[in-house]
Amino acid sequence: MIGTANGRRIGITGLGVHVPERVYTNKDLEQYVDTSDEWILERTGIRERRFAEKEEALTDIAAPAVLAALADAGVEASSIDLIVVATVTPDMMFPTSSALLADSLGMPDAAAYDLLAGCTGFMYALAQAYGMVSSGLSKRALVVGGDVLSKILDWTDRSTLVLFGDGAGAVVVEPVERGGFLGFELGADGGGGDNLWLPGSGSRHFEDADKLVKMNGREVFKFATRVMVSSAEKVLDECDLTVGDIDVYVPHQANRRIIDHAAKKLGIPEEKVVVNVDRYGNTSSGSIPLALADAAADGRLREGELVLMTGMGAGLTWGSALIEWTQGGAR
Ligand code: ACO
Repeated sequence: MIGTANGRRIGITGLGVHVPERVYTNKDLEQYVDTSDEWILERTGIRERRFAEKEEALTDIAAPAVLAALADAGVEASSIDLIVVATVTPDMMFPTSSALLADSLGMPDAAAYDLLAGCTGFMYALAQAYGMVSSGLSKRALVVGGDVLSKILDWTDRSTLVLFGDGAGAVVVEPVERGGFLGFELGADGGGGDNLWLPGSGSRHFEDADKLVKMNGREVFKFATRVMVSSAEKVLDECDLTVGDIDVYVPHQANRRIIDHAAKKLGIPEEKVVVNVDRYGNTSSGSIPLALADAAADGRLREGELVLMTGMGAGLTWGSALIEWTQGGAR
């Protein structure tokens, strides 16, 4: 799927993130699997990640992010009429985490649903919210991306345990006077889906007691390096823009090597690339909003700047969005 905003001004007016308190360094993981700080750092760029407490579920981590996003936008929870939560680790399959958040945070008029598109979930949810708001069906939407992957990690598998972390982010999406989304490109290849999968997680293998992540890292790596580039090129082309127009590049934070490869291949200089995989690991749907928040915190997200976001993940899926940043909401 690909398309431009055709002049419709729908943007992000508030941003909030949250990560669990508990920090696990690479060294900490050495007690669970045969690995080393050197191996993890060299092959992934990750130094540490956050893992939720036993009693913490997705909505516990997402709720503070939502409250921060609402405060940043300066709007009441009750004004949200759509909440989409992108996650592969909801509190439970149903009731949905979006409905639970809408109830606990006070959004009685909101349509609420969860969206499942692996680590690309946040990009898919952004496009959904854009579509709903630009059609006029939603006046003010909330997009949440977050995961608690520590709950579905195999703590005896070194090839996956060291890569992931927990975290969540939220954005308010609504009409803006300046800036806003310029275009989206989203795709999926179920043919490669068995390179990153969760046995026993649905109706196909319901009896399978194994509910932990399985991954063919080398294949996912090849897929990632390919789509991170092609998706970005497609959305830029669709919007009649070039790589030279990009001010800030916010890639999914899966692995430093994947990010560096994509930036180099696209020709985006290092100073424009947002990287925080060293501090959080791969937080799946939380990764892009967490990176956006870092860029905002260090003053890199300024009025009128062109931001390219690209994600990829289980499905296999990928997605890109181009947005002209709107400082202070500009509603
Ligand atoms: N510590 C030490 N050694 C390890 C570890 C570890 N944590 N993990 C694997 N190894 C070993 C392997 O067993 C292998 O040993 P061998 O040569 O004796 O067989 C060796 O290291 C090399 O393994 P490779 O898999 O070839 O290592 P590679 O350089 O490809 O890095 C990695 C592996 C980091 C998983 C890489 O393939 C990768 O990043 N893939 C993409 C993963 C990803 O991004 N997944 C998520 C994307 S989607 C989403 O976000 C949900």
